[in-house]
Amino acid sequence: MQDVATEAAKRRTFAIISHPDAGKTTLTEKLLYYGGAIQMAGTVKGRKSKVHATSDWMAMEQERGISVTSSVMQFPYSGRLLNLLDTPGHGDFSEDTYRTLTAVDSALMVIDVAKGVEERTVQLMNVCRMRATPITTFINKLDREGREPMELLDEVESVLQIRCTPATWPLGMGGSFRGVYHFGLDRVRLFADSEVIEGIDNPRLDELFPHEVDEWREQIELVGEACEPFDREAYLAGALTPVYFGSAVNDFGIRELLDDFVEHAPPPRSRDAGREVSAEEGAFTGFVFKIQANMDPQHRDRLAFLRVCSGRFEPGMKLHQVRTGKAVKIPRATTFLASDRSHTETAAPGDIIGIHNRGTISIGDTFSEGEALHFTGIPDFAPELFRRVVLRDPMRMKALQKGLEQLCEEGATQLFRPLLGSDWIVGAVGSLQFDVTAYRLRHEYGVECTFEGVQVYTARWVGCDDPKMLERFRERNEAALAYDGTGALAYLAPNRANLELVQERWPDIAFTATRDR
Ligand code: G4P
Repeated sequence: MQDVATEAAKRRTFAIISHPDAGKTTLTEKLLYYGGAIQMAGTVKGRKSKVHATSDWMAMEQERGISVTSSVMQFPYSGRLLNLLDTPGHGDFSEDTYRTLTAVDSALMVIDVAKGVEERTVQLMNVCRMRATPITTFINKLDREGREPMELLDEVESVLQIRCTPATWPLGMGGSFRGVYHFGLDRVRLFADSEVIEGIDNPRLDELFPHEVDEWREQIELVGEACEPFDREAYLAGALTPVYFGSAVNDFGIRELLDDFVEHAPPPRSRDAGREVSAEEGAFTGFVFKIQANMDPQHRDRLAFLRVCSGRFEPGMKLHQVRTGKAVKIPRATTFLASDRSHTETAAPGDIIGIHNRGTISIGDTFSEGEALHFTGIPDFAPELFRRVVLRDPMRMKALQKGLEQLCEEGATQLFRPLLGSDWIVGAVGSLQFDVTAYRLRHEYGVECTFEGVQVYTARWVGCDDPKMLERFRERNEAALAYDGTGALAYLAPNRANLELVQERWPDIAFTATRDR
């Protein structure tokens, strides 16, 4: 391996964000294909069983003899090494999805041309905005009738609060989709046969599309005048997104997207850990953003996903776990190279490694070579779904408590204990989290429990610089307050109106939707 700075400069660590069905999986497939990770184009997973995506990927690995895991996919492209972090969607949508976004340096946003900006995209963009993550936009399914491109750009700008600059422009749409025009290269690629035509004024276009070309030229001129040019600084600051058009399933418009993406997207960036840690530093640092439990009762270990921030990881390394103050020897870590099984297990900044452990590692843990650093910005996110825990056997109370506390620490679920009464409430951002929690409580802690609905709309962590004020707030709102798994105070709002009202009444109390660990 070359020196750390050179290796870091090659990495592009990113995630794809989208609403379900916009085409994230299809685009992932094509990106892997371009990276040489999949030798054949085509479907890599059964779409009808999205919840079982992981096993589908494993089946694919076996079939094709290549190593692909759905969590992290590393593949080379154009002299760079891309790390694509999967953001669980559909039923397996969870807090992991949000937290994965804290471990990337940029994101690709996929939007369905007919549907525009959808709810999940708004939620994911809110998370990206917390760290001013640079966003590249791909508007998908141009082979179908959809909305006017200009209207979509307006919607992205107003709903997602990010300026748009089209990098490509579609020539027609649906049945009359003919290709895309690349502004920077002044080049057209045709949909029918991928023919490349240099220059929008090229007579070849008049020859092929005598009835359409004038309108395209006019449109492109208008768009070129109306939209601001690409500004990399603004892109890197998360203030502006370049927009590409295409059709993932037809593998169209993706080359343009990917070629620009590897040029513009940032390499591993500096991160705050009490001090700024630069990716070029020689000493190893990293943080854990996700923990995956093995559902197989025979193998009760957990895989901690660690994002390398600086230095390099070598198998056998002894790392310092800052929270516990312990030295942990890591004999081997899982690395994720999609194209090659016989890779070395060294990792550089931007890479993700998986560390096996038996519950000793928590989300948010920082690892270093000894320095007492703590990476910030790997928060808990206010749950969007809440259930009351109903224990079948009251004798198992202690085991339940232990189980819930541990699952909470792992980030599998969140636990709230109201100040009044003896209820326990679990919170999640995706409903599958409840099933996983119930399953693991049964199998790992021997606790049978069910969950029932509860009148909670959302949670906000509360705080105030003035302890007296906080005490007053607490006294007046006891019925709606709870301690979370770490003992932090949270307000459980029964509905949106109530939350707004209480925020209005208590202007000095801070209500936050995330809480740093
Ligand atoms: P997701 O991961 O974001 O949920 O979306 P996914 O890629 O699974 O795509 C959702 C559906 O949209 C799939 O159809 C997929 O084939 C289709 N799709 C993706 N890209 C395009 C495109 O460019 N044009 C058109 N017309 N469709 C596209 P499906 O019916 O759910 O699955 P399948 O039976 O086609 O595999």
